[in-house]
Amino acid sequence: QPRPSSAPDHASAAAPPTGGRLAVVGAGAVGSSVAYAAMLRGSARSIALYDIRAEKVRAEVLDLAHGSPLAGGAEITGGDDVACVAGADVVVITAGAAQAPGQTRLDLAGTNVKILESLMPQLLAQAPDAVFILVTNPCDVLTVAADALADLPRGRVFASGTVLDTSRLRWRLAERLGIAPRSIHATIIGEHGDSEFPLWSSAHIGQVPLQDWTDGAGAAGAAGAADTPALSREELDRLGHEVAGAAYEVIQGKGATNLAIGVAAARIVEAVLRDERAVLPVSSPLTGYRGISGVAMSVPSIVGRAGVERTLEVPMDEDERARLLASADALREVQRSLGL
Ligand code: LAC
Repeated sequence: QPRPSSAPDHASAAAPPTGGRLAVVGAGAVGSSVAYAAMLRGSARSIALYDIRAEKVRAEVLDLAHGSPLAGGAEITGGDDVACVAGADVVVITAGAAQAPGQTRLDLAGTNVKILESLMPQLLAQAPDAVFILVTNPCDVLTVAADALADLPRGRVFASGTVLDTSRLRWRLAERLGIAPRSIHATIIGEHGDSEFPLWSSAHIGQVPLQDWTDGAGAAGAAGAADTPALSREELDRLGHEVAGAAYEVIQGKGATNLAIGVAAARIVEAVLRDERAVLPVSSPLTGYRGISGVAMSVPSIVGRAGVERTLEVPMDEDERARLLASADALREVQRSLGL
C-alpha cells in the first residue's frame, strides 16, 4: 500500500549503525565532523562526544541528535564530564590546537603533547578496553606519546595517519585519469605531514600498474594515444606534492580542515568495530619496519577489533625506501626535542 504523499518518510537511507560504542574527544570542527560522519555512515551504535567546553559540547550533541532519526538512528550522547566516554570500544582523540595558516603540523607538537598527557590517564580510566585513534596533530608524534602513556597491548593506540592523504591522492588521480576513485589503488605513506609520499611503484589502476597506464588504456577510443604514458615522472611528483600540501590550501580558504578527516576517521572506526581486518595506511609505532623503530608512521596495516593487528612490508623502490627513512628522521627530530 503506497505511503500517502503527505506522510513524512522517516526511512533512513543510511546503513543501520554498526554495533559498538564510539567516543569522540574534542567537539571542535574536527571532532564534530568525525561524530557527524560516523552518524551518517552508521559507523557505530552509539556515539558520545566529550569536550571540557560544556555549552559547546551540549550544542554539538543536540545538533547531531536532532538529525539522528534521519541518519540511521545511532544513539548520540555526550557532555563535559569525561565519564561520558565510559565503556567506549573506540576513542577518537581530536582535542588540541589546530594548524593556523602556514603552520606545519609538527609545529603543534609541544602544545598538543601536553594536552594529551593530561587527557590520556582520564580516558584510560573510563575506557580501559578501548582502541585509541589519534587525529590531533601531529598525529604521528602524539601516537608515540599516547602509546607510552597508555602502556596498552601493541596496536591499541594508533593514528588516522595518511588514510586522509590517500583519499586525497585517489580523488586527484581519479579526476586526472577519468577513472572511478574506487578503482584507483594508490597509497600515501610516512608522516601525516610534509614528508609524506605516494607509493607509486605499487600503484595500480584496476589491475594495470600505474607506470603501464597509457591514454589508450584509460580514455577509451583516445585517438593515437595507445602507448603514450599517461603520467610522466614530473607529473607524478607534482601530484604527490599537491596532495602533501592539500591541507594548507583548505586551511588558507576556510581556516581549518574538518570534513574529509571526519570521513576518514569514521572509516577507520568501522574497520575496528566491524573487525574488518581491512588494509589501511594508519600510523602506528614501528618496531623494526624496514629497519625503522621509535617513531609512528603510516604504512599499509591490517586494522580490526584489536586495532593495528599487523603492518605490511609492501614492495618499495630505492627512492621510496629513502623517503620513508627521511620521514622517520623528520619525526624523530621533533620527538627528540620533546624528550619522547
Ligand atoms: C589534514 C589534517 C587532518 O590533513 O592534518 O586535513
